[in-house]
Amino acid sequence: MGTIDFLSSKEELVFSIFRTIAPRYDLVNTIVSFGRLHSWRRFMVEKAAPSPGQRVLDVCCGTGMITKDLAAKVKPDGKVIGLDLSPEMLAVAERNLAELIQKNLVQLVQGNAMALPFPDGSFDCVTIGYGLRNVSDRGQTLRELFRVLKPGGKVVSLELAKPSLPLFNKLYHLYMATFPPLIGSLLTGNKEAYLYLHCSVMSYPHQREITHLFHEIGFRDVNCSELSWGLAAVHVGLKPAAPPASPSP
Ligand SMILES: C[S@@+](CC[C@H](N)C(=O)[O-])C[C@H]1O[C@@H](n2cnc3c(N)ncnc32)[C@H](O)[C@@H]1O
Repeated sequence: MGTIDFLSSKEELVFSIFRTIAPRYDLVNTIVSFGRLHSWRRFMVEKAAPSPGQRVLDVCCGTGMITKDLAAKVKPDGKVIGLDLSPEMLAVAERNLAELIQKNLVQLVQGNAMALPFPDGSFDCVTIGYGLRNVSDRGQTLRELFRVLKPGGKVVSLELAKPSLPLFNKLYHLYMATFPPLIGSLLTGNKEAYLYLHCSVMSYPHQREITHLFHEIGFRDVNCSELSWGLAAVHVGLKPAAPPASPSP
């Protein structure tokens, strides 16, 4: 039985949304974020900062834009695996990353973030961009990211967040409720997908709670950077290094 044979109702919703918007996903995002998402992505990849030769997993890789920037860091002999639930998003990623796939720097895998198809301790670094808001169980997803990291490895999450200034936060939600659904419906024909985006941002916890969740899962040195007055946040955490072997008696 494959990993995506059983999907929860949220996964089914997310699955059907990304199926229809995949071809125009990057264009719509660039327009509705006024290009900010590109600088947020660069910031995230700088925080991840994998070294040449390392193995990196990019969970919820979508069309592969973060995957591509990570590959530039681990080349010439490292590897980035991009994993996503949606075959349609992966098909776009395959086109975007064709050269890197050919050079064996990138591999794309269809799978579920909540049941990663990798053994414990497989990666030096794991990233997840705009993924924690879309999975049906954030705790389970973070446990999986923790599990597949090597001791001492780093997790980095980029997500939309909650601006701290109350008036700015109100204006932002008004904006999210109107502009993305309008542009999204014009460019993809799927207004509901962008209404879902607004709902998912509204119901996603404050970045402080995500920091708390990282600690609960067992990450240490957890750090949260707010970007663009809190429109986005990057969380970084480390999996504790293996304890030193106890001396033999
Ligand atoms: C908002 S997109 C982000 C894509 C990409 N990381 C980016 O920065 O543009 C969220 C992605 O998460 C994927 N996704 C949602 N739930 C998932 C799950 N349970 N397992 C794997 N991927 C999932 C969706 O298919 C979608 O491609």
